[in-house]
Amino acid sequence: MQGTVRTWGAVANEAGLQTATIVSMGADLHRPGQLPKLATGFDLVLIDCPPRHAEIQRAALMVADLAILPSGPSAHDAWAMGESVDLVQAAQRVRPELRAVVLITRKVPGTVIGASARAALTETGMPILRTELGFRVAYQEAPAAGMGVAQYAPKSEAAEEVRDLTTEVLSLVGLVKTKPRSRRK
Ligand SMILES: Nc1ncnc2c1ncn2[C@@H]1O[C@H](COP(=O)(O)OP(=O)(O)OP(=O)(O)O)[C@@H](O)[C@H]1O
Ligand SMILES: [Mg+2]
Repeated sequence: MQGTVRTWGAVANEAGLQTATIVSMGADLHRPGQLPKLATGFDLVLIDCPPRHAEIQRAALMVADLAILPSGPSAHDAWAMGESVDLVQAAQRVRPELRAVVLITRKVPGTVIGASARAALTETGMPILRTELGFRVAYQEAPAAGMGVAQYAPKSEAAEEVRDLTTEVLSLVGLVKTKPRSRRK
């Protein structure tokens, strides 16, 4: 594991900034006494899975309410998701209550590939979140400052779409009631 989130948390703490509680876990995170026990103290738990690590993805899918599969906008990105989609569908056979959605990210507005992203990703057979994240420098700059984009550049497009994403996801898991506004570009 690269531990990017932990490193980001360390940068944030050094800068005197607060973060969510960050815990690093392995492929046994779903076992009794692990994440399910820890999670009782929190309203919301985000599990960031490393790419191409089926063991950990499978463990996370055993405890998650909602799986979010981020994908770039191209057909190539959609094909690359095949393995994760298979894992999600296998988990859904064991746990029909598990929901899964695709998040379009790194989309460049005004490009042909950006415009066709939704169509390309429909082939995965998964529902696609209404919120889309653009390809924006704020996502690259914010972590170095130990921040998320909403804190780093609160008035930016990146911050706006991340707030929309938060609302949409919280509403999907039943933690807020408001519907997000449409941000299709
Ligand atoms: N929407 C975006 N716009 C611009 N740059 C982005 C965007 N999303 C990601 N990036 C860049 O790509 C890097 C990797 O992104 P991210 O951490 O989301 O990918 P990942 O697949 O989780 O990578 P890892 O293998 O490190 O876990 C980020 O640090 C950032 O620099
Ligand atoms: Mg990652």
